[in-house]
Amino acid sequence: MRKFGLIGYPLSHSFSQKYFSEKFQKEGVTDAEYENFPLPDLHSLVPLLASSPSLEGLNVTIPYKQEVLSYLDFSDEIVEQTGACNCIRIHKGKLYGFNTDVTGFEQSLLKKLQAWHEKALVLGTGGASKAVQYVLKKRGIDYSLVSRRAGQVGKTLTYDQLGQELVRSCTLIINTTPLGMFPLLDAFPPIPYDAIGKDHFLFDLIYNPQKTLFLKKGEEQGAVIQNGLEMLTIQAEESWRIWRDSDPVI
Ligand SMILES: NC(=O)c1ccc[n+]([C@@H]2O[C@H](COP(=O)([O-])OP(=O)(O)OC[C@H]3O[C@@H](n4cnc5c(N)ncnc54)[C@H](OP(=O)(O)O)[C@@H]3O)[C@@H](O)[C@H]2O)c1
Repeated sequence: MRKFGLIGYPLSHSFSQKYFSEKFQKEGVTDAEYENFPLPDLHSLVPLLASSPSLEGLNVTIPYKQEVLSYLDFSDEIVEQTGACNCIRIHKGKLYGFNTDVTGFEQSLLKKLQAWHEKALVLGTGGASKAVQYVLKKRGIDYSLVSRRAGQVGKTLTYDQLGQELVRSCTLIINTTPLGMFPLLDAFPPIPYDAIGKDHFLFDLIYNPQKTLFLKKGEEQGAVIQNGLEMLTIQAEESWRIWRDSDPVI
């Protein structure tokens, strides 16, 4: 049996195991299984690999997307540039690192992106934010980061620095914070929503719930909205494509 799985901690609300188990069943993949491996610390990855010789691929989630880089034998250019890896291909005892969040975000973003979305605000500076920033740079979209903490690298703003004028001119706003994610359904990023209009595109990486307060507030102002469900599905399919290839392409 070919084995795949997810490492992270905790893994109580993981999407991946259900997604892959249903996918394998639907597509008649009878020689593969997908398991959750909750690791309280990442050192446990070494004994996990030693005891699971049939393990061919892993997804990596919070809190290990950055820390896992030191365990990789090879990483692709996106992992090197973002410093984050969410997909590992295990081949002949070597670990190959990829970042399929980038592909997922880019493909989902492009479906609704318009020519006038030239300036963006990226809320949050964690792992997923790095994937978002990679795509914005690649697409030539000028962006500012918004963080709870001042003094971050580059053009980083704090929430109280977000004036009406700035928000009006940044017609793409991407939430990479957990604000509004289950079970914190009443939370939302503190930005001036009344400066949002019908030219805005609000993208929330959160997929549970499907419509966060951030998206609801944007929609009320006439903005186009997108949640993180499509991104999640695309990144999972991209992981499968990487694992399916007999030789990892880096
Ligand atoms: N749809 C998908 O496929 C997909 C993929 C990856 C992640 N996600 C989602 O994206 C979100 C972030 O994931 P991540 O891996 O980037 O997590 P992370 O590394 O913990 O980063 C989250 C960032 O959000 C900000 N933040 C955290 N708590 C906050 C709070 N109470 N108020 C305001 N800002 C806060 C922080 O930035 P500052 O310290 O700079 O404020 C933090 O760095 C999660 O909801 C996750 O489920 C979705």
